[in-house]
Amino acid sequence: MSNAPVVSIDLATFHADPYPALAQMRKETPVCFVPELGATLFTRRDDVFRDEKRVDLFSSHQPDGLLTKVMGSNMMRKDGDAHMRERKALFPALSPRTVRDILAPRFHDIVQGHIDRLKPLGACDLVSDFAMPVSADALRLMTGLTNMEATEMDAASQAMLDAAANYQRDPEIDKRGYHYADRVQYLIEERLPALRAQPDHSIISVLDQAGLTLNEIAGNVRVIIGGGQNEPRDAIAGTAWALLTCAKQRAQISQGAATWRDAFDEYVRLVAPIGMSPRRVARNGSACGIDFKEGELIFFMFGSACRDTVHFPDPDRFDIGRNTGPAIPFGAGPHFCAGAAASRSLIADHALPMLFGQLPDLHLDGDVIFAGWAFRGPLAVPVRWDGATSLPMSGNAPISSP
Ligand code: HEM
Repeated sequence: MSNAPVVSIDLATFHADPYPALAQMRKETPVCFVPELGATLFTRRDDVFRDEKRVDLFSSHQPDGLLTKVMGSNMMRKDGDAHMRERKALFPALSPRTVRDILAPRFHDIVQGHIDRLKPLGACDLVSDFAMPVSADALRLMTGLTNMEATEMDAASQAMLDAAANYQRDPEIDKRGYHYADRVQYLIEERLPALRAQPDHSIISVLDQAGLTLNEIAGNVRVIIGGGQNEPRDAIAGTAWALLTCAKQRAQISQGAATWRDAFDEYVRLVAPIGMSPRRVARNGSACGIDFKEGELIFFMFGSACRDTVHFPDPDRFDIGRNTGPAIPFGAGPHFCAGAAASRSLIADHALPMLFGQLPDLHLDGDVIFAGWAFRGPLAVPVRWDGATSLPMSGNAPISSP
């Protein structure tokens, strides 16, 4: 085992709110072994930013890991040329040009459809009624899985992620995860003939055009469903919640003093939807003054890095005026999120401005609880609009650690 200091956590407390424990780790034991997680955590931003690039020591290649077992072989669990081959193949589907010319107009239509559906209702839960279906419809479009219902996309994402984190080997969780993994492959096979007859910019089509096998396409599409559904959902609902809690900061956007992108970037800094990324120690070696042994598990803690006081003064505060440049909610190495540009467009250019622009009296209508440390977001964001009875807006009240 490495000689990192050992720090114990209470798993339930860490799940409810990991930030106090992470702040203490950053201050006192920035690289520490947490027995309850069976991993050594890197908690400071500069350490994560530097060491995520040391792929010779901290490898993504984890063929026996649970994620690979459930989802199949995929780019996120590969290094070097094997990773680059699949990453390059994916590029045409999510490149800045594809986002601007092909996806953005469709994102507009998707968001408009959901606002039109919700507007007469006067109230909803932003997570399940708006952010979830918007994210799922965007993912159906991006993947090419137009034969999959939005609710099934959401269920598949959750079931495969749960199975990939099923360290206690609960057979029911495994069964559900593997069921949806098979289902995704079935739906890909169903779509392939049409996409071969008429190739397009969807993920299935570009991976097929690049010569990836069915298994390689399925593995990558499953990982993208796992990472591309809940995160935009949580970021849409979470950023909306933050702005609904801080009327003065919302006014800065309407007055042109700040942008929707500022709000999105600041929210994903404050509550990174993906809080960590795991790596395997590839050989004996040292980092941050700690000696690691081959085979050990380490976690790069993006959620902690994004609250590091070295870069972010008063880091638990939502502040759309701050410099979010050093934040790394999309990663900081060769596995930097391939969907970052598409997510910014969907959330900051469409979902948020259209939501606030078309439901102008939008306000919170109840408490909002956050959960998770590896994946974190609001469980529900109840809202009302059109002058329905509501809680008063809270001015510029400081946000307690979400
Ligand atoms: C707010 C939304 C999102 C956030 C916060 C997010 C965050 C992340 C993070 C933290 C990683 C791992 C980076 C690393 O280990 O260095 C990642 C990887 C990835 N993400 Fe995202 N993601 C989001 C949305 C999406 C979407 C919508 C897609 C695709 C449609 C996507 C596709 C990917 C892919 C393919 C990878 C693996 C890249 C590789 O291994 O080279 N993500 N994402």
